[in-house]
Amino acid sequence: MSFNSISEQDLSYFSSILSDSQIRKDEEALKDYGHDETEDLVFSPEVVLIPNSTLQVSQILHYCNENNLPVTPQGARTGLSGGALPLFGGIALSLEKFKKILNIDENNSQVTVEPGVITQVLQETVAAKGLFYPPDPASKGSCFIGGNLSENSGGPKAVKYGVTNEYVLNLEVVLTSGEVIWTGANVLKNATGYNLTQLIVGSEGTLGIITKAVLKLIPLPKLDMLMLVPFNSAEQACEAVAAIFKKGVTPSGMEFMERDALIWTKDFIKDDSIQIPDHIQAHLLIEVDGNDHDQLMKECETILSVLETFETDEILFADSAAHKETLWNLRRKVGEAVKAQSIYKEEDTVVPRYELPGLLKGIKSIGAKYGFHSVCYGHAGDGNLHVNIIKGELSDDMWDNQLPSAIREIFDLTVKLGGTISGEHGIGHVQKNYMDIPFGKVELDLMRSIKNSFDPKGILNPGKIFPIS
Ligand code: LAC
Ligand code: ZN
Repeated sequence: MSFNSISEQDLSYFSSILSDSQIRKDEEALKDYGHDETEDLVFSPEVVLIPNSTLQVSQILHYCNENNLPVTPQGARTGLSGGALPLFGGIALSLEKFKKILNIDENNSQVTVEPGVITQVLQETVAAKGLFYPPDPASKGSCFIGGNLSENSGGPKAVKYGVTNEYVLNLEVVLTSGEVIWTGANVLKNATGYNLTQLIVGSEGTLGIITKAVLKLIPLPKLDMLMLVPFNSAEQACEAVAAIFKKGVTPSGMEFMERDALIWTKDFIKDDSIQIPDHIQAHLLIEVDGNDHDQLMKECETILSVLETFETDEILFADSAAHKETLWNLRRKVGEAVKAQSIYKEEDTVVPRYELPGLLKGIKSIGAKYGFHSVCYGHAGDGNLHVNIIKGELSDDMWDNQLPSAIREIFDLTVKLGGTISGEHGIGHVQKNYMDIPFGKVELDLMRSIKNSFDPKGILNPGKIFPIS
């Protein structure tokens, strides 16, 4: 891919449509907008543009398309697959000024938002009206809805309520030509032509830039119960997951944390609320929710009857809202805790949930073969295991040259078990060279032709999703 560098002429065009504060070229900005939360990767843009209207996004894209300048759309830069990294320099286009919740339509249980709204802000705003927007990535306190849409984010609630795409009805999208489209209609059913809405969701900012989204809301459940279950064996914890669903219970959270995940997180956030005896190898954090107390009690009893068939220690029930928040906070902070501990690489494996024990076992034996330590945690109810490979004392040679073969083995196993290589973090930059594992040439060529229809010059988020061929 070859693009033009940003010239004085380009800058004077940007100055003609944006104010000075919307154009940043200072060193601090080039560094800040050069990374997301993926490993320690930094690819600085040449300039950061911060538009505040659909018109400005349209003008920028039209100009960049005409002048062959690469554009990397950015949200809060909390992503874990390098989707927001400006690999080819050029323009980092930040949607941070698109912060408005435009309309809460209580008659139809819908909300129209701009992409720079923080996910938790949206959740709290609609919750005040008794409405629920379930997708809740661990970074919900800082990530943007636009990033969630682009990566098709999940989070703990996905196991019962589904991931982001299930809540998207209609999108306003700016195309590279500068044209602005709406992808669908504000309706719950839509059998009208190809589903452009769902094509844009999860397309990682490679097809167009989302400037508005109409999202579906559901009634907010009034009650929940939360338990933390310690297991003597991590594989048994994984086995218990499918066993619980098979008894007819769908928990609203079913999270797995290996021993180190929880110990490192306790240290990281200095939380001493739970003790982890030496023989405990993993925990499941299980939540049920609904509106009927007796029903939830019954679901808990069913879960407990399944757990009796496994080797568990004393189960901890959260006894207050604050206690629940403490336990959820421990879970949400695992990613940051691992990052603080060591250089690491994160793989976002997902398999049918019954295959989870086989996946965990296989990952550990691949680790033993290559000599790496891994810390696994994630959304067990979805079969979605975040595999954190720890650099620790490994040599740079091992890390740079041999680890890709180990990752390939992990992904081969994942696909052999009926799964795929990303459940919710996306492919972005760091997983693109593994796309030949879940897909053959025919599927990849089809995807490339879709990319080509939207972005014939390849200026939008270049270098993402597709292996460099
Ligand atoms: C989590 C993020 C890493 O589940 O997806 O904590
Ligand atoms: Zn996750």
